[in-house]
Amino acid sequence: MNIFHVLFRSSVGKKVTMAVTGFLLFGFVIGHLSGNLQIFSTPDKINAYAHFLESLGPALWVIRLGLLVIVAVHIWLAAELTIENRRARQTGYEKQITLRATLGSRYMRWSGVIVLLFIIYHLLHFTVRVTGGPEAYPTTILADGTAVRDVHSMIIIGFQNPLIAGFYLLSVGLLSWHLSHGLVSMFQSLGMKTRTWAKPLEKTVIAICVLYFIGNAAIVVAAFTGQVRIQNPQVAGFTCRTDCEVCGARNDASLAETLEQREESQS
Ligand code: HEM
Repeated sequence: MNIFHVLFRSSVGKKVTMAVTGFLLFGFVIGHLSGNLQIFSTPDKINAYAHFLESLGPALWVIRLGLLVIVAVHIWLAAELTIENRRARQTGYEKQITLRATLGSRYMRWSGVIVLLFIIYHLLHFTVRVTGGPEAYPTTILADGTAVRDVHSMIIIGFQNPLIAGFYLLSVGLLSWHLSHGLVSMFQSLGMKTRTWAKPLEKTVIAICVLYFIGNAAIVVAAFTGQVRIQNPQVAGFTCRTDCEVCGARNDASLAETLEQREESQS
């Protein structure tokens, strides 16, 4: 029996592979959130971070391809296990299955489908950048003079639309629920959910997923309500307050001066 058969064809192998791919995706979303939380710092932070990722060039494409393969395997095995479960139930083999477990897996499927639709929209929104006009995707200049994409403003512009903000909140809510259920199943598939550990494990997983939701929701809500503001004077709707410490006091009086200095440093 080869390793492919063990991991992708046997029922136990499929569950373990689902658990491992799910865990890798969990790692990605936690890392992604940590990067995105930089929106609460100066705009240069998140803009430089996005620029750094972009500058990885071919390495970034390797990571993207890896992610794509992991997502595809995760979805493929989820579909296969669902079909297997259905067949088993039809033959009356798993009549003992509880209503809670059935509902849980049904919601896992639906939340998974909505999260997938969200990811497609999200990629078009922030990575391919085609859901808005050019004004939704501004550029800026870092303190060291590097011209970069203004991801800070791009995120705020996106979330100022109530429909988009609402869709993101719903999606990260469902994703957080999906993760909490998936992580507990993962520990079960890996044989780590013993009788003694089951309760503390569930509580820890739920706490992590609630924190994950709060982190994402904080970004959406802060951008929607204006708690984080656009700091790029070249963006329409620029709303920096007087003597804003974050962006270096680019108030009306100093704005022209700042722009002039930038132009001089570029030429
Ligand atoms: C408030 C929530 C989120 C914000 C503000 C956000 C922000 C961003 C931004 C700015 C990018 C583009 C990075 C760049 O090209 O410079 C991006 C890419 C991406 N995001 Fe999110 N994101 C959020 C939630 C999520 C969630 C929940 C997921 C996963 C389910 C996700 C998955 C991705 C993926 C896969 C990419 C593409 C990465 C790449 O190929 O470069 N994001 N996100």
